[in-house]
Amino acid sequence: MEMKQKVASKFEELFGAGAFLYASPGRINLIGEHTDYNGGFVFPGAVDKGIIAAIKPNGTDKVRAFSIDLDELAEFGLREEDKPVQSWAHYIFGVCREMQKRGVEVKGFDTTFAGDVPLGAGMSSSAALESTYAFALNELYNGNIDKFELARVGQSTEHNYCGVNCGIMDQFASVFGKEGCLMRLDCRSMEFAYFPFHPEGYKLVLLDSVVKHALVGSPYNDRRASCERVAKMLGQEFLRGATMEQLDAIKDKISDEDYRRARYVIGEERRVLAVCDALERDDYETVGKCMFETHWGMSKDYEVSCEELDFLAAVAEECGVTGSRIMGGGFGGCTINLVKEELYDNFIATAKEKFAAKYGHEPKVYPVIISDGSRRLE
Ligand code: GLA
Repeated sequence: MEMKQKVASKFEELFGAGAFLYASPGRINLIGEHTDYNGGFVFPGAVDKGIIAAIKPNGTDKVRAFSIDLDELAEFGLREEDKPVQSWAHYIFGVCREMQKRGVEVKGFDTTFAGDVPLGAGMSSSAALESTYAFALNELYNGNIDKFELARVGQSTEHNYCGVNCGIMDQFASVFGKEGCLMRLDCRSMEFAYFPFHPEGYKLVLLDSVVKHALVGSPYNDRRASCERVAKMLGQEFLRGATMEQLDAIKDKISDEDYRRARYVIGEERRVLAVCDALERDDYETVGKCMFETHWGMSKDYEVSCEELDFLAAVAEECGVTGSRIMGGGFGGCTINLVKEELYDNFIATAKEKFAAKYGHEPKVYPVIISDGSRRLE
């Protein structure tokens, strides 16, 4: 059954008729990883996989939320002390609370939801969930909150209710996504532009190592703290704009670990800008070269890779793939690969075979289809 159908019929079965349907996508990111919370640039796009929710106000002060994928119901109130026990429900609860903090009079509602963003693959399943509810509650309770603020509702939910000090990229991409377009976002000024992305002769494909990443309680927050320490030493709000010369000048005053974290971020900022330039010229060789550099920077300096992801990037290199790198926060999940069409079949077959020989299972393969952001479904 189609996901939309499944969500709607489960709602009817549990709560009756009259629900509204909303959807928000997961995302990919071409380049610009761990730059968002450093005030830098990111280059994401929304994908054709996401979350769909059916939702209807129920006239009470309680939320009844049913996760179809987990086959579990959570019931909770809307006051700060009503945080539900189920961790998946923290996302919905957090969004309600963050909307209320922004003056929206959120009341009780019934909801069912399901998703097809692979969990823990670094494709932002949690942002898809947050954006779905932020967008829906804004419409249903006449919130008048603009799309940037809806993205911030999701981000604050992560900070205040889920323990992840994430940047804005995932929620931004989920809310603002547009079919066929990547988006270059300046995370300091929040200016952004849509980039139609149709790389002729190439395909974008994700290989999921199926090593689950969980950013909650993970070293993700430590990476951010390192960057903030170095920025402070440099007398800046963000690492954005810092140069290698400036970093080298304070090398003796910071730990080797912080030095390497900052070195990666400074390099990544340069790469995002190089990729933007290269895209203007349809120069995908440069784009790919930067992607590989990002991968090894994330692996060696930022240390957010794992053996399986390094293996996948190395196989891509051997197969003549134009660019390949870890995508998202890291610690597992996917690589994103820019592959010439004529090499595609061989690359996928080789990666499956070699990965399975080493790790006992094949990576999952998701061709990237760049799609629309948060929306109400008819
Ligand atoms: C996660 C976070 C984002 C971003 C990426 C790394 O997806 O949620 O804000 O920091 O990691 O680029």
